[in-house]
Amino acid sequence: MKYLKVKIKNLIISYGTLRVIDNISLSINSGDIISIIGPSGCGKSTLLKVISGILKNADIAGEIRVNAKRLSYVFQEDTLLPWRNVISNIFLPYELLNIPVDTKKVREFIKIASLDGFENYYPSQLSGGMKRRADLVKAVITNPDLLILDEPFGALDAYTRMKMQIFLRNLLKELTETTTILVTHDVEEALSLSNRVIVLSNRPAKILDEIRSNGYKDPIDIRVTEEFIENKKKILRMLGGIR
Ligand SMILES: Nc1ncnc2c1ncn2[C@@H]1O[C@H](COP(=O)(O)OP(=O)(O)OP(=O)(O)O)[C@@H](O)[C@H]1O
Ligand SMILES: [Mg+2]
Repeated sequence: MKYLKVKIKNLIISYGTLRVIDNISLSINSGDIISIIGPSGCGKSTLLKVISGILKNADIAGEIRVNAKRLSYVFQEDTLLPWRNVISNIFLPYELLNIPVDTKKVREFIKIASLDGFENYYPSQLSGGMKRRADLVKAVITNPDLLILDEPFGALDAYTRMKMQIFLRNLLKELTETTTILVTHDVEEALSLSNRVIVLSNRPAKILDEIRSNGYKDPIDIRVTEEFIENKKKILRMLGGIR
């Protein structure tokens, strides 16, 4: 059953005199995979931080309701602990929640992430893509009901990025109970992974449009559909300020 997971109404956020979020209203339902796309510095990370309750030093007006028991956040930067190897980084959420490790599930997810054989490697010994995959496994291993991803593949090359999108999509298929909010600069990534794409304006961010997508299809197949190409054009025009 669908229910309201996040409700934002007339949200305004400023850092001192700098207004970053300008009257945003948005409802997110359980099971949604929603992408937020917008120019650099427009306020996307700020929006994610306010949803997860970690925003500091900002003036916030409006309404925010978040109905999540277990929230996972993947930051723009790597958050693996450098002094722990892959497997003990993935165990960390279990330790924090003080629940027993589900070793079968950990093994399964490590396999999905193609990290099998690298369990004892430290983050400094992994490639960029491997680090991101370990970070994502760590974020989802304890079944969050709200998953927040801030530019998770921003630092990767286009080819690795595509592989990561396929990986993330497979991961999300396992997590039917999870609502996902994904911030990205990449129009194709947004359209191929989510069912709703929110397009934000330059700072202060307003919602320019919302586009429905069918990100449940194969990320490569979907890219050649007419609907995808039309949506991509539409979003690129909006972001480029071209009519
Ligand atoms: N703690 C803070 N104090 C003051 N200003 C901040 C703070 N955090 C962010 N800002 C400002 O708010 C604006 C939006 O920042 P934010 O990180 O939300 O943008 P973004 O859309 O995530 O950008 P990017 O795509 O580059 O990650 C920027 O102008 C930034 O300088
Ligand atoms: Mg950001």
